[in-house]
This record gives sequence, C-alpha cells and structure tokens, in this order.
Amino acid sequence: LRILAVTSEAFPLAKTGGLGDAVSGLALSVNESGAQVTLLLPAYPSAMAHVSHVTEVAALSGLPGGDAVLLGAYCPELGVQALLLKNDALYDREGYYVAPDGAEYPDNGIRFAALAHAAARIAQGIEGQPRPHIVHAHDWHAALTPLLMHQMQIKDVKSVLTLHNIAFQGVFPMGLADALGIAPRYCTGEGLEFWGQLNFLKAGIRYADLITVVSHNYAREILTPKFGCGLEGVLAARGGDLISIPNGIDTTLWNPQADAYLRGRGFTAEHLGNKALCKGELQRAFGLQEDPHATLMAMGSRLTTQKMADLAAVAIPAALDAHSGLQACIIGQGDHGLEAALRDVAQRYPGRCGVHIGFDEGQAHLLHAGADILLHGSRFEPFGLTPLYSMRYGTIPVASKVGGMADTIIDPGLDRPIGAMQAATGILFEGEQPRDMALALDRAMGLRAHPEIWHAMQVNGMRSDFSWAKAAPAYLSAYQALCPNIALDRI
Ligand code: ADP
Ligand code: GLC
Repeated sequence: LRILAVTSEAFPLAKTGGLGDAVSGLALSVNESGAQVTLLLPAYPSAMAHVSHVTEVAALSGLPGGDAVLLGAYCPELGVQALLLKNDALYDREGYYVAPDGAEYPDNGIRFAALAHAAARIAQGIEGQPRPHIVHAHDWHAALTPLLMHQMQIKDVKSVLTLHNIAFQGVFPMGLADALGIAPRYCTGEGLEFWGQLNFLKAGIRYADLITVVSHNYAREILTPKFGCGLEGVLAARGGDLISIPNGIDTTLWNPQADAYLRGRGFTAEHLGNKALCKGELQRAFGLQEDPHATLMAMGSRLTTQKMADLAAVAIPAALDAHSGLQACIIGQGDHGLEAALRDVAQRYPGRCGVHIGFDEGQAHLLHAGADILLHGSRFEPFGLTPLYSMRYGTIPVASKVGGMADTIIDPGLDRPIGAMQAATGILFEGEQPRDMALALDRAMGLRAHPEIWHAMQVNGMRSDFSWAKAAPAYLSAYQALCPNIALDRI
C-alpha cells in the first residue's frame, strides 16, 4: 500500500510544533507495517539540509506561484523517502509561515495551493513515480488536495485529511480562486466558500474520503460552537466519515535513558538519580540558582493564546510569590507581545525565572528531563504531545483539561486518600483565568510536599505506553478499509 503524506512539517525536515513530530512518527510506524509512506513537503532550506540522494523527478509547470521542480530524496535520520517541491521564490525563506517580524507571509495561499496541486498531480500520475493508493493530507496546508483531486476527477486514489488543529484553516480572499487553480464551481457554500472567502480546511473536510482527528475528546469538542471554530456544522455533515485516532510519541527520540541531548545524564523510572544532574544543567542554562531542593517548573511551547501564555505571564509570578522554593524556566516563541510579557517576568525574578525566546530542540529535551513540573495551559489542545514527553521524563504535567490532554493525563482528584494515587500522572485544571492556573500550581506544590506521592506519579507517567506502536494500527485499519483490495506490503 503506497501512501503519499502531504504536509508542511515532518521532523527533522521542518517543525514548528507537534504537527512535525506527529507526521514523522506516523510515517515511521506505518512503514514498519510494510506499507510505504512517502512524504511530500515544500523544499524548505531546513528540509534540503536533512536529505540525501536528491534527484529531479519531474518539472511541474503551471502551478500557483509558477513552475516548480519535484525532487526525490531520502531522509536518513528518519529512514523515509521524501518528495520535495522546489520553488525557491515560494519556500526559500527564513520562516515557515511568518516573517521574522511576526507577520504572516502574504502569499501563503499561493504557497500551499502549490503544494496541494503537486500532490494532486502525483495522484494523477507522474512518469517514473509510482502512483499512491492513498493521499493523506495533514492540516490546512495540505487540505486543498482532496478538492483538487475531485476537480481533476481522480477517482481511483483515496484521500484522508487529518485535523491536527482546526484553529488554523487557511482562509484567503475569494478573488484568489483563479490564481490558486480552483474552479468556480467549488467556490460556493457546498464547496470551500466560508463567509465569502476561500477556506482550505473546509475544502479538505468537504472532499476527503476520510477525516481523522488526533484525539477522542477533541473529536467531540470540535462538533460544538466553543471549539469548532465555525466549522462545527461542516464537520457534523461529514460525521459518518469522521473518526478519532490519537497520536503516539516517538519513544526512540524521546527516551530519557538514551537521549543524546542529555549528554550521558540519562535515567529510567527505576534509577531516577541522573534527573537531578539534568536539573542542575537546566538551572545553569536558564541562569537560575543551582539549588537541588528548588521545585523547577518549566514551560516549553508556542507562546500564543492557544497555549495560555497570557495567563502564564500572570500565574507564574503569582506562584513564585506564593512558593519561595519554586523556580520557572520558559522556552518558546510566538506572539511578540506575549514573548515580551514573559521576558518581563524573568527580569522581575532574577535567579528564579529564566526565559529563552526561540526554537531549540535540544533545550526542549533538557527542559523535560530537568524540570519537576511542566506547566502546559491550553485554551484548546487537539492532542498535546508536550505533556506526554514530560511524563516520559518523570516531569509532572499541570495542564488544562481540554482536548487530548483530558484523555492522556490522569489527575488524582481532589481530597483523595493517598492510596488513590495509584494511577495518577498529572494535574488537570479547568478555566481560563490566571487564578485557575495559579491554583493548579498550588495543588502541584501541595503534592510535592509528599515525596512518596510525587514519586509514584512520576513512575506512573514514565511507565505509560503512548508509543506509535500502540497508536499506528488504527491508521493502518483505516487505510485498509479505504483500499480493501491492496495488501499492506504489496509495493
Ligand atoms: P503544538 O503542536 O500545538 O505546538 P504539541 O504539544 O503537540 O503542541 O507539540 C509541540 C512540539 O513543539 C513539541 O515537540 C515541543 O517540544 C515543540 N516545541 C514547541 N516550542 C518549542 C521551542 N520553542 N523549542 C523547541 N521545541 C518546541
Ligand atoms: C497540533 C496541535 C497539538 C497536536 C499536534 C500533533 O499542532 O495543536 O495539540 O499534538 O498538532 O497532532
């Protein structure tokens, strides 16, 4: 079974968040089943830097944004074949979606319509390139693909759309339809029209053969006005073709015992000793007092209102004031105003709060390894890989009870006897006020005063199995249901 995974991110080729991790983890484990996943991404400079054996597969003329070249390549770190769409005018830039000043690139519609057109042409057939049986589009960047396959009357290739985050939809002016290669008959409410504009995600939802959502809880939430971002009706209309398949995590890359970023300071649930060394390293890296007895709280995420960075900028100082033994370190980037607000907190608490603005994979690993608590507030969270990474490294998540996190984190509950801690792995809080977050941190500090409870929760998290090996079979079943006559390993 051949699958073309169309995506803007796949770690290590391109990553701004969990999308990159999820797409790569899925590709790897689907490949292990004998099926064959090929990734299709823009030829970003970061992607070109992580591939070898680059060949020219085809010239693709007349795409939105101009002629492009389809490159074939291999990603040795991932062990997966990739097709890279090369058009330097579109993709050879410093950022993936936004310029360094934080402004969205004005031609994002063109950039990702080109990606979708390339996918549809590959589905149609390109000389020398085997046709896929399934085109699997991820998020809005790829979501125009099922519509284009319909427009090109490609009926013998199935399409899947995975919703990693419906808050990002790819909405562009209706007047761009022609430049994006979308036929007028699709520019209605039945097609991709959305409040007078073009909506890429709606195109995918309308035309994909199957829609998957990355957690059970988010799949329910997005059918409500609070979480549906205006698409709840469109999603409900496809209810019969919408299923939830929770993500997994890559337990090889995120392995506390053998994590290269920890430089020999690995640890296990049975031997947690080196976690203290990681904590010292993390304290040094963020300019915090090197105090092994301090409780170190970390936050590592996109600094946006989705991730409650606005609440954190108020709740973290409140928690630092309330608990003298607490320290905080933050790595992230995003909204410039929220970045400044968090930097300001660090300045107000020298030696107790450190903030690094930027994207640093190694530091994210050290953060999970060295911290005691991961603070991960979210107004909505389709899946939430970050708290699973923290649990695997014995760091207790304090997270919002939304989306996938409500499925994956087990809260001990209030006022429970200590014996009820048997399964607990973290703390969940409801609400969107700084006080809700600060109270959750108080609860965490309360549990921290009981080392035996804390240790039990750490071990519970570290032993939980969130691997792709457990998660991927549901995707394989879905692929097979779409193509019942094709064996997984018939290449
Ligand atoms: P989302 O996809 O909404 O951003 P997830 O928790 O599912 O949320 O995934 C986030 C991923 O991005 C994790 O791998 C996390 O470590 C990573 N990440 C986010 N911000 C940074 C950063 N500033 N530096 C390094 N990694 C980051
Ligand atoms: C998105 C979501 C996140 C999810 C990730 C991978 O970026 O915001 O919750 O874990 O995709 O599916």
